[in-house]
Amino acid sequence: MANASLRIPDLIIKKRNGGVLTPEEINHFVTEVVNGGVQECQLGAMLMAMYLNGLADEETVPLTRAMMKSGDVLGPWPQEWSGKVVDKHSTGGVGDKISLILAPALAACGMKVPMVSGRGLGHTGGTLDKLESIEGVSVSASKDKMQQILTEVGCCIVGQTEKLVPADKKMYAIRDVTGTVENIGLIAGSIISKKAAEQLNALVLDVKFGTGAVMVDERKARELANKMVTIGNGLGVKTVALMTDMNNPIGKMIGNALEIAESLNCLHGNGPTDLEDLVLQLGGQLLFVSGNATSTEEGQRKLKETLTNGQAAKKFEQMIIAQGADSEKAKALCVKGSDVWKILPRANFITPVKSKQSGFVNAINSRTCAECSLKLGAGRQASSDQINFAVGLEMCVDIGTSIKEGDDWIRVHHDCDVIPDDIKERLNNAIDVTPSPPKTILTTRVKDIIS
Ligand code: URA
Repeated sequence: MANASLRIPDLIIKKRNGGVLTPEEINHFVTEVVNGGVQECQLGAMLMAMYLNGLADEETVPLTRAMMKSGDVLGPWPQEWSGKVVDKHSTGGVGDKISLILAPALAACGMKVPMVSGRGLGHTGGTLDKLESIEGVSVSASKDKMQQILTEVGCCIVGQTEKLVPADKKMYAIRDVTGTVENIGLIAGSIISKKAAEQLNALVLDVKFGTGAVMVDERKARELANKMVTIGNGLGVKTVALMTDMNNPIGKMIGNALEIAESLNCLHGNGPTDLEDLVLQLGGQLLFVSGNATSTEEGQRKLKETLTNGQAAKKFEQMIIAQGADSEKAKALCVKGSDVWKILPRANFITPVKSKQSGFVNAINSRTCAECSLKLGAGRQASSDQINFAVGLEMCVDIGTSIKEGDDWIRVHHDCDVIPDDIKERLNNAIDVTPSPPKTILTTRVKDIIS
């Protein structure tokens, strides 16, 4: 409810002078942002004041709550789902296909996962774009349709509707053009408001750091994780964050259809170990904090079982059919041992790039790989660009693999006749080969857990 005694210019001045806004003042401001009572210049000024002076926890929780309530929220969910409505959010990685595996695996454990996901952002690929590489799949669904899919299947992965968290849409658009995106409080509020609008019981956050992460610096990523956990719990969503290493790409595939193929392998229990480990670690935490497992280890065991007994793959099949895929094609795609390339789009050419050195693979620069994949057409450089679902990269080596000069280390899936010279050159530099094996090889990407 707008409060006529509060003037927008006074609120801006208070924040500009380093004051802490009260929940009532924050509510009024956000309500007026959505109602058109705040001019764009005023919103820009307030965001800059917040950016420069920071946001206290007493401000971020009410700000996020006000944003969450600025439009539709999902639910109310049926009483019998109580304690079972869960989701995961990632701050964005390279080869990050976790949601495509985790959502169906959680559904196979009896959870309800109303995942509102995003498109590619910067160098990172988007879960929605990956899903759309399956013919017929639609990522838009009304609230009622989502509830129907959750009732029948248990999980859906869709985009944000116009009505969900409209305050974030307005604020993000102005942040983007006023140099106020990179503020921990504003980023955390933006992310958590959208997840809280799903009316979740529990949320796990995959907060990445390292070369391929949006937030490269581990200290900053940790600050963001702490802030998101505080806000999520402050809004009544049991929230836990995993700090995860994003220096090397996740799994072996980067690119839309390629990542669907790799996800299907993982859903059948045959995924690369780093990918499966991250799925199980994130999901194990979620089952534990939501009270659906007595420990994270038990949560991991339950999830692992769904990958080996075919239930997670079945949920994925049911989910894509519910979201518009042809049922015969979906079955052919999801059956164990399927030739997925009869269904998924395949690039015209697959060309290997060879190692220039002999030794051991010490590192693979995930950001360089992501940028090369994007340039091949796997992502958008402008928002109007069409994605080429078939193109991308397939890694032939792991960290620590012994390699000889002339061995293939990565395969480029491309539709242009030859790999452009600049991409070849960048890929040549993306691999670091050293004379002796790396001193430590990570057995898990998870560095820390924040709850
Ligand atoms: N993702 C979001 O949804 N919001 C931000 O501010 C940054 C990343």
